[in-house]
Order: sequence, then structure tokens, then C-alpha cells
Amino acid sequence: MKILLTGGAGFIGSHTIIELDKAGHSVVVVDNFVNSQQEALNRVAKIIGKEVPFVKADVRDRASMDKIFTDNKIDAVIHFAGLKAVGESVAKPLEYYENNMNATFVLLETMRSHGCKNIIFSSSATVYGDPAMIPITEECPKGHCTNPYGQTKSMLEEVLIDVQKADNEWNVVLLRYFNPIGAHQSGLIGENPNGIPNNLMPYITQTAIGIRKELGVFGNDYDTPDGTGVRDYIHVCDLAAGHVAALKAIDKKCGLAIYNLGTGHGYSVLDVVKAFEKVNGVKVPYSIKPRRAGDIATCYCNPAKAKTELGWEARYGIEEMCRDSWHFQSMNPKGYNK
Ligand code: NAD
Ligand code: WQD
Repeated sequence: MKILLTGGAGFIGSHTIIELDKAGHSVVVVDNFVNSQQEALNRVAKIIGKEVPFVKADVRDRASMDKIFTDNKIDAVIHFAGLKAVGESVAKPLEYYENNMNATFVLLETMRSHGCKNIIFSSSATVYGDPAMIPITEECPKGHCTNPYGQTKSMLEEVLIDVQKADNEWNVVLLRYFNPIGAHQSGLIGENPNGIPNNLMPYITQTAIGIRKELGVFGNDYDTPDGTGVRDYIHVCDLAAGHVAALKAIDKKCGLAIYNLGTGHGYSVLDVVKAFEKVNGVKVPYSIKPRRAGDIATCYCNPAKAKTELGWEARYGIEEMCRDSWHFQSMNPKGYNK
């Protein structure tokens, strides 16, 4: 199939290009580099041994999107493009709602006018809010999102569900990612956050390499085995492979399908720190800080539905995730900006 990846230069998109290529699909990427760089695509080209067809454009730009669909016979779209920093979304709600919602509206209208009605959407475990059940199955009711970023994911899921309901030629796959970390085994591509990282793993790798003095552990008084927050970390290469598997659902004309993509294992902040230190032989100085606003105690999924229906399951464990995150950071101490 020929797949359009919106936001394909980003962390998850860049790894997904490689898995799609391995599976024999061809790709086109559209990205405006608001949170990524051309260098990521150059490195993907090195890994797969060929150029990555690419258009630099904003998904909100109708003319550019129309041209992409006119120039390419796109079979399906994987829609990664969006702003994703939770804290920033609280400070800049309008920018987040505007970008994430309008990009999706323009994309869906362009797809419809070109007769392309197959889409995989990057959703998030955040739509479960403080989850009503652990482990979380896809049957778990959606919860209250405490930030505009999460609201956009939850609202866009509803938009996509309604679009599919109104026209059953659409195939819509909502992939609810848990906590992606790790990097491609080559160490050439990985997570490259701007400024001070919000997420745990980039903060750990930047601390281990000396860019940050110590990791702040946000709370040790949660109702969890060691008091720190528990999450379902998933290797980004496993997550990337989940998109290839999701194309099978589209191929079978799934209509609407929703899948959790996680490992089903919960690790605490201190579990991750310990695994990272052990597998990489480096120290991660940390101190306990107050809880972070909006955080929940525990979030991990039951990934059985993706296994049964798509034949997909995560292959990598926490040690491989820690090893590959560190490999990327140590090969690229300043990220893509050497
Ligand atoms: P990322 O920021 O690395 O990638 C997103 C890409 O979209 C970037 O390359 C950015 O430049 C591009 N983009 C944003 N707005 C755009 C626009 N209007 N036009 C064109 N390009 C635009 O993020 P990621 O971690 O790769 O996440 C990919 C998707 O998965 C996002 O939608 C994110 O919300 C979602 N998601 C991520 C996580 C996570 O923890 N990383 C978890 C759940 C869901
Ligand atoms: C993980 C754990 C923190 C940083 C976020 C988004 C979610 C999804 C994935 C996009 C928590 C603790 C973190 C630090 C810490 N993204 N922590 N010190 O919050 O589970 O999920 O990213 O959809 O929507 O909310 O991930 O990596 O920020 O935190 O102690 O410096 O690490 O409290 O327990 P989170 P995270």
C-alpha cells in the first residue's frame, strides 16, 4: 500500500517509516518540522537505504494537502501530526486546539475529496483519564482529560467515530498508545525533545549524560508498590510495528476499530531508573519531588485485543527500551543538533 504519514519526521513517525518499508509498503511524509527536523528523515534514509519521499507542509494548508493527494495515489493515512506537550497545552490551549483539530479537519476533508477513506489515528492512553479499570481494556470508558492536549485526542476520536458512522466506506483505526520510549537499534534515530524534557525517559537519558543534574521523581506517596507512578512503557519499534499490523485491519475493511498499544506490564518510576542503571552501567541521580499536577498513580493496559485481532504484540522489554534510549542519547549527546 502507499501510505501518507502526517508528522512522519517525528519520534514515532520516523520509526514507523522503517517498519512500513520492511513490510513492503511505500510512504510519503508530510511534516512542517514544528517539532522535528529534516535530519531525522536523512537518518531514516540511511537506515532503509533509500530516500524518503517528503513534502514540507503544514497539514492545515489545504492547497498543499490537495497537491499531495493529486500527485500520489494514497491508499491509507497514518495521522501522527499534532502538538503533544501536555504542560505547554495547558499554557497555550488555543494553539493546541487550533493545530490538532484543524489539521485533522483539513486532512479528513482532503481525503474524502480524493476518495481515500482509510485512516490510522495516533490516540493516547490519556483518553482513559484516571482509568476506571486496571489493566485497561478498550472497553474501559473514556475518562476526564485534565489538559487541552488530551482533550484534542479525545475529541478527535469522537470526530473520527462520527465520520465513519456517517459513511461506512471509511475504515478508522484508533490506536491508543501507552508510553513510547526506546529508539531504533542503530542509534541513528530516537526521541529528540526541544528544551527541558517533560517525559521520564528523555529526562533520565539527559541526566545520565550530564545535561541535567538530577531527575526529579514526581511523588512517592501514590498507592503503588514503591509509591511512584506506574506506567506501561513500550518500545517505539514495537509501537511502529503496531501500525503495520493495523493496516491489516484496514485491509479487512474493519469500519471502526480501537486498539491499545502497550506491553501490559506496569513499571514504576524507580523500576525504570533501576533498570536503566543496571543495563547501561551508568548512574541516574534523583531526588523525590512533589507530585506533578494532573498525574495519575497507575496506567497499564491489557493488549490482548491487538494480539487476537491483529497478531501484534510487543517483543521488547524494559531492559531493551532502556538500552536503546541510552544508545541514541550517547551517540547523539545533543540530539540531532550535533
Ligand atoms: P512528535 O512531536 O515527535 O511528532 C509529531 C510530528 O508532527 C512532528 O514531526 C511535528 O513537526 C509534526 N506536526 C505537528 N503539527 C503539524 C502540522 N500542523 N502540520 C504538519 N506537521 C505537524 O510526536 P510523537 O511522539 O512522534 O507523536 C506522534 C503522535 O502520537 C502525536 O499525535 C502524539 O500526540 C501521539 N502520541 C504520542 C505519545 C508519546 O508519548 N510520544 C503518546 C500517545 C500519543
Ligand atoms: C511517566 C511517569 C511521572 C518525568 C505523558 C502524557 C500522555 C502520553 C505519554 C501523549 C509519571 C514520572 C516524569 C520526570 C517523573 N503522551 N516522571 N519525573 O505522564 O504517563 O504520559 O506521555 O499522548 O498523554 O501525559 O508520561 O513520561 O511524563 O511520566 O517522576 O521528570 O514518570 O510522574 O509517573 P505520562 P511521562
